[in-house]
Amino acid sequence: MRILVIGTGGREHAIVTKLATDSEVSELHAAPGSAAMAGQATVHPELQDASDPDQVVELAQQVAADLAVVGPEAPLVAGVADALRAAGFAVFGPGKEAAQIEGSKAFAKDVMAAAGVNTARAEHLAPGASAEEIDAALDRFGPHFVVKDDGLAGGKGVVVTDDRAEAIEHVQAVHAAGNPVLLESFLSGPEISLFCLVDGEDVVPLLPAQDHKRAHDNDAGPNTGGMGAYAPLPWLPEGGVQRIVDEVCRPVAQEMARRGTPYSGLLYAGLAWGEDGPAVVEFNCRFGDPETQAVLSLLKSSLAEALYATATGKLAELAPLEWEDAFAVMVVLAAGGYPASPRKGDALTGAALDDASRVLHAGTRKEGDTYYSAGGRVLGVVGKGESIDAARAAVYEVLDGIELPGGFYRTDIAKKAAAGEIRV
Ligand code: GLY
Repeated sequence: MRILVIGTGGREHAIVTKLATDSEVSELHAAPGSAAMAGQATVHPELQDASDPDQVVELAQQVAADLAVVGPEAPLVAGVADALRAAGFAVFGPGKEAAQIEGSKAFAKDVMAAAGVNTARAEHLAPGASAEEIDAALDRFGPHFVVKDDGLAGGKGVVVTDDRAEAIEHVQAVHAAGNPVLLESFLSGPEISLFCLVDGEDVVPLLPAQDHKRAHDNDAGPNTGGMGAYAPLPWLPEGGVQRIVDEVCRPVAQEMARRGTPYSGLLYAGLAWGEDGPAVVEFNCRFGDPETQAVLSLLKSSLAEALYATATGKLAELAPLEWEDAFAVMVVLAAGGYPASPRKGDALTGAALDDASRVLHAGTRKEGDTYYSAGGRVLGVVGKGESIDAARAAVYEVLDGIELPGGFYRTDIAKKAAAGEIRV
């Protein structure tokens, strides 16, 4: 099978790394790809705009792809999957309408209401709302304010704060960018990311994971795209994944099918597990980053087969997925100044930089034999072990051997889970 993966980041590096080990894959292409993927796939830096449907279709034709896998949300929301399907390609990723589940939080709320899915109470604030209207809306929420950018924000558009002034500031910033705001009630309980392969009404969950969104240890600092993750979740109640599938993911898939926009691809449910069980924080229309790097490192079954079955409407025929009986912890090495203004152009050193089983590249470029930082999240290091403690030890040992001037990482990824401090 010839597979074309669209994207450049750590999530796509994880997808490429797994596909490169699958026996069904005869040719692997990544576009634009990255220097770090070049050892595993033919990279296509000539793809100028991954969100331009014509450019992506042209490339898929050039490489005669049997399957196209669209990694990031922007091309999906822009309709790249629709264009590929119209040109006759099997595609892993939802069409433009179904991708609204991530592209518009208001759309996602509407789907959830129709599907009877438990989620936060929400209110929409359009750009142009007066100071009095913003104040009155905030009065109906709090004391914890959840202020979301109702557009694509790369996982960074949410501010959760007890500080009313900070909440107002974020409302104004989102409005200044021309986007509506969604105010939500605060959902308590530990967060879960559950990725499901979805093909119409068929839903197959992957391992549950947990992201760490704040920049610094002890959940201090600003929200980021994600500073680390681990999988699976030892604290999740027995039957928890099935409950999320039954109460959240399948009802949403059924509602999308009922609307005539059936979902095909990866449905990412971001949830909080509170007193009443799972409640949806958000949906994404693609694999999550950084959770994917941890989850896929444990997948024993063929990813190529699973993605192809989803893309071709045969998910119901897929054999149950097999997983390593282990834990994976993934820690992001970020550039100094991330997320506000990451510094770039620093040389990376470390023996493991080209070992994709342990180091996945998110924001690097290569000159000669040297990698340089080229993004906010630079690397994602993955460690595995029979316990979370063992996986944590493995990941931090690799990180100890990598140098990035000014770079930083959290030292507490999965620490609470390892200590048994997460309870539901
Ligand atoms: N893990 C957050 C995201 O992928 O949006």
